Amino acid sequence: MSQLFIRGGGRLRGEVTVQGAKNSVLPILAATLLTGDTVELRGCPRLRDVDASVRILESLGCEAHWEGGCLSVDTAGLKGCEISDRLMREMRSSAIFLGAILARQGQAELSYPGGCELGPRPIDLHLSGLRDLGAEIDDAGGVLYCRAPRLRGREIVLSLPSVGATENLMLAACGASGVTTIANAAREPEIVDLQNFLVSCGARVSGAGTSTVAVEGGQKLHGCTYTVMPDRIVTATYLCAAAAAGGEIFLRNAREEHLSTVTAILREAGCAVSADAAGISCSAGERLQAVRPVRTAPYPGFPTDAQAILMAALLRSRGATLFEENIFENRYRHVDELTRMGAHIRVSGRAAVVTGVEALHGAPVRCTDLRGGAALCVAALAAEGETRISEICHIDRGYEDIARDLRALGGDAVRV
Ligand code: UD1
Repeated sequence: MSQLFIRGGGRLRGEVTVQGAKNSVLPILAATLLTGDTVELRGCPRLRDVDASVRILESLGCEAHWEGGCLSVDTAGLKGCEISDRLMREMRSSAIFLGAILARQGQAELSYPGGCELGPRPIDLHLSGLRDLGAEIDDAGGVLYCRAPRLRGREIVLSLPSVGATENLMLAACGASGVTTIANAAREPEIVDLQNFLVSCGARVSGAGTSTVAVEGGQKLHGCTYTVMPDRIVTATYLCAAAAAGGEIFLRNAREEHLSTVTAILREAGCAVSADAAGISCSAGERLQAVRPVRTAPYPGFPTDAQAILMAALLRSRGATLFEENIFENRYRHVDELTRMGAHIRVSGRAAVVTGVEALHGAPVRCTDLRGGAALCVAALAAEGETRISEICHIDRGYEDIARDLRALGGDAVRV
């Protein structure tokens, strides 16, 4: 099992090109099924979750190959409609394949994705939306049997703006006759990226980025070459690394408009953040200031995926900061690990209060989930001495090579 060794205490100085967005490429890979053609994805991040998606596509008869940072997927050979339980378990967001398989094959069979390290991950909104479009879905013994000889467009109102449900329904709606509108849709930038991809393939989709997405289904889609948007959570991670350790970094390709709630808080904490068409620069001094309460919310609110990472950046701040986690139930599992490094954090239900300490120290710690793992890396850069981080398979789900990137930013990080 690989581990990360990070020696902290030094300031960062350097530059990195931000990888393509995981949360964008996963629904796009599912969407390739709609084309029955070859799609070339440029800037595709090489991640464990991307490999899992490719294995699902291959199990359905599709072909995929890498050339540098470009992934080509040919979905002409799609023959199956079933995803094995083993492949479903490899990646929680595999439910996103449901809408695309149904649209293309008229039926789909996959096991219920179940919970994950962040707590229960229901897909009831995905299923009720698909039923609204005319799918019959039986949930027997943890397996979902879905049949939809004909999907018909109509208005679907989501009771909460779920990212995955919005994406799944956009894909199913491409295969439905007539117009589908998704009201109370999620507004995340990754949904805009999915729309841009679908439009490049000839689909008629509009409204992504607002609360109402409209899809005029039934178009014949074709392949395309598409460049995946930069990952805003990876961007937030490296900005927080500079904020925590101090120094000056440049993140090439990063787009501030995707994470303005994060950069606003970093400025409030005392960092100088500036952005232009080429990327984002961030410089930070010795210690940050505590900030106003940080409450996670659907986009454009503060992203839940950046909660642990920002918390790690504020461990040595002057003063106390309140965090409120409003999206997932079980998203403070990194706190015990950060405490091993000398952090002072009190958790009560959805709330956590971080009181800044003067110094952190290296310690052996364990990743509890993807972003919790990234938070440990951020804290380790700000800690005196060496931190050994284990169970980094969680980090590999979302970061191509975090040790490589941290070294490029002037950090002392190695993977062993
Ligand atoms: C996506 C992101 C994840 C991010 C999350 C919130 C991907 C691959 N993952 O996950 O990194 O943390 O958005 O920004 O893009 N819910 C229901 N019923 C449903 C669906 C969701 O109750 O049918 C609830 C969830 O339990 C959660 C909330 O809605 O409390 C938000 O979930 P959702 O937006 O669907 O997140 P994901 O798409 O799973």
